[in-house]
Amino acid sequence: MKYFLLCACLCLFFSLAVLPQQQSLSIIPEPAALVMNKGSFLLDDKTVIVAEGDNSELKLFAETFAGWLLPAMGVQLKVVDRPGAAKKIVLSLNASLKDVKTEEGYMLKISSSHISLSAARPAGIFYGLQTLRQLLPPAIEYQTKQPASWEIPAVKITDYPRFGWRGLMLDVSRHFFSKEFVKKYIDEMARYKFNVLHLHLTDDQGWRIEIKGLPKLTEVGAWRVPRQGSWWSFLPPQPGEKADFGGFYTQEDIKEIVAYAKERHINILPEIDVPGHSLAAIAAYPHLSATKYLTYVNPGSKFYNIEDNTLNPADERVYEFMDVVLTQIAALFPFRYVHIGGDECTKLFWKRSSEVQDFMKKNGIKNEEELQSYFIKRMEKMLQSKDRKLVGWDEILEGGLTEDATVMSWRGMEGGIKSAKMGHPVIMTPNRHAYLDLYQGDPIVEPETYSMLRLKSCYDFEPVPQGIEKELILGGQGNLWTESVPTPRHAEYMTWPRAFALAEVFWSPAEKKNWKSFTSKVEKQFSYLDNRKVNYARSMFDAIITGVKADKNTYKVKIATEIEGLDIYYTFDGTNPDIYTEKYTGTLLEIPKGASQIRVRTFRNGEPVGQQINVPLKELEKRIAI
Ligand code: ACM
Repeated sequence: MKYFLLCACLCLFFSLAVLPQQQSLSIIPEPAALVMNKGSFLLDDKTVIVAEGDNSELKLFAETFAGWLLPAMGVQLKVVDRPGAAKKIVLSLNASLKDVKTEEGYMLKISSSHISLSAARPAGIFYGLQTLRQLLPPAIEYQTKQPASWEIPAVKITDYPRFGWRGLMLDVSRHFFSKEFVKKYIDEMARYKFNVLHLHLTDDQGWRIEIKGLPKLTEVGAWRVPRQGSWWSFLPPQPGEKADFGGFYTQEDIKEIVAYAKERHINILPEIDVPGHSLAAIAAYPHLSATKYLTYVNPGSKFYNIEDNTLNPADERVYEFMDVVLTQIAALFPFRYVHIGGDECTKLFWKRSSEVQDFMKKNGIKNEEELQSYFIKRMEKMLQSKDRKLVGWDEILEGGLTEDATVMSWRGMEGGIKSAKMGHPVIMTPNRHAYLDLYQGDPIVEPETYSMLRLKSCYDFEPVPQGIEKELILGGQGNLWTESVPTPRHAEYMTWPRAFALAEVFWSPAEKKNWKSFTSKVEKQFSYLDNRKVNYARSMFDAIITGVKADKNTYKVKIATEIEGLDIYYTFDGTNPDIYTEKYTGTLLEIPKGASQIRVRTFRNGEPVGQQINVPLKELEKRIAI
């Protein structure tokens, strides 16, 4: 009994000793295995970074790490070859390191005198340094010297990713984003261990990459008339109006972006979206469509099935065009995959074209889905001749999948499941878990977009469907379409923190996922984002307000929060809620006679944390869950 009591006391002592530090860690994505120890390593101007084994790559990592620390610490830590007696951070490569499982895994051991980071491959060292960076206090993110103590908690981490494909897609067509912003986006991705940036380079609203020999793609295709308001209801170009809104990347820009990404262990997946979504290319070269009428780059006005945005699969000149484009794409992007789109291709104009119909008859092509498949098969052959593999959106299943295609499943998981069952590799990007262009909070207070994808829905994403071979699921991707994302600040707002959730889905072991601990880490990461001037959404703090049918003619109000530990206050009388107004206790609310709106806000420790949301009851009626 005495022994039992002693053990219980010791356990309590250790858990109390360890708890405060454990709670303060905020590593995203969560490492595969983490053990907290007592004490910490104090980083100071006497600390040296050791790149073991005279390895130039390790030396570069060591210099890079010292460069990250320099602005806030105000000292440039020395990089040396051999460990001496000094306090040190030792980077080492050990090809036989088994515990880290993959080429991207690492081991990080921190004690009060010593930090050791080892990996089988350089990528592992890179990811280990990202973790180490997150173990430093948020002040490390400032670009000026800070009066902080650079303490790193003593931990032992063994870490490796669950998936090899951990992507984000940035649509640079609907709105153009500068090379500088793309680099900033890459920096952020690398911190959270993403390794693929998919650039959606072409669409109806802009062609964004210089192709030598096809100058009009960027002289005409990269520019549209400027518009603000609601996407799809923008005014089409008016007579005489100048198309001067847009931009493109020169081939030199692309080389710079690719090299920048490579240094951060990120591959760039280029997408040339064909045969649909091609209005910008057609505006530049009208002969590419079966309709052949001259048109303009769409500014976000309604055009689908009104203007022909499809390439003409019956015209050999289209394949010659694609060969020029894909040859240069393959030369510019070393990643072995090229995305050829294939989504949402209207068949209307192919059906109407006698040229296309004659071509189908002559070639024994039974319907337009098969015709699309014919086109995609030719794209695949073209890419194979350039030593590249084809990726396409899940519509490439229609009419028959090509031999060697990798499918990006976006309209749900079904396309991915079907493809995997046929033995094809799949990247899961289902819209209800991974579309970062959707609302992340109440549409009343969020910038205008469509549908809903809350942080929790990203976090609940499970990329491997039951009964599907795990090896065929390469990984997943969050997709930021930018119809309603006109600025870099807003691109960041839509990305973070939902991409934190996806980072954890793609990297961490599924059994390590824990929503409560994740949201508390997200809050801590906000300080890091603040300090490095990256925008993000605080929508997870907002209330979720819905109606619940009570009987045939009446309904009640339900209020919830996405994260735990918030208090909800509300009013029906048109005044602003605070902690002295009514507190929501979980019981459905009856609507007082004459009320026309409910006003809701969340608080924590008496302080407001969410935005105030004023919902007219007319709007609430539309939200009734039956
Ligand atoms: C898509 O969202 N059209 C791939």
